[in-house]
Amino acid sequence: MLITFEGIEGSGKSTQISRVVQALSNSGRDVIATVEPGGTELGMNLRSILLDSNTGSLDPLAELFLFSAARSELLFEVIKPAIADGKIVLCDRFVDSTLAYQGYGRGLEIEMVAEINRTVCAGVWPNLTIWLDLPVDVGLNRAIGRLNQNNSIEGRFEKEDVLFHTRVQDGFKSIAKQEPDRVKRVDSCESIENVSSKIIQLVNEAIS
Ligand code: TMP
Repeated sequence: MLITFEGIEGSGKSTQISRVVQALSNSGRDVIATVEPGGTELGMNLRSILLDSNTGSLDPLAELFLFSAARSELLFEVIKPAIADGKIVLCDRFVDSTLAYQGYGRGLEIEMVAEINRTVCAGVWPNLTIWLDLPVDVGLNRAIGRLNQNNSIEGRFEKEDVLFHTRVQDGFKSIAKQEPDRVKRVDSCESIENVSSKIIQLVNEAIS
């Protein structure tokens, strides 16, 4: 069972994932949480290149392949073994981020990005995707505030203009429309408690 969490910057994915881990662990489920890009040593190294605002602009195809390399390693080292052990895997971002950011955001051909996603995943696909939806300006303000507060250099995508983030948002919208059985939209403007109870309900339906 693979459950992924998607959304623009500042949509609250990591807070919600911790709550789902807690809820599932409390009910005796074997669950692990991981993150993209990251989750492996290679992934962390690629993350520092891809997210560091000092990296500056990259060729969109180079960016696509770096994210895909991080995913391939994460599948090999973490996700596939955990699934084979019968664990529930929660992943902070996955294939839909690549489609939304490199496809819709950067303007790479959607079908090409989708094909690379399928090739990298080789049959492992999310059973459920929670799309945390909130307005672009709200999410960006939250994310930039958090980066400043933590003195973080991970601002490469936050530096992109509102038009870029609006295209990404439209990407998530159209993925959700195309795959309504897998991708469930949750309004992330509500309180943390309301959002997490909706998510936990969706997760429980998916795993039961
Ligand atoms: P986050 O850890 O705050 O979600 O940051 C990850 C950033 O990387 C976010 O801006 C989205 C971006 N990203 C892509 O552009 N493509 C991808 O395939 C993934 C996984 C993330």
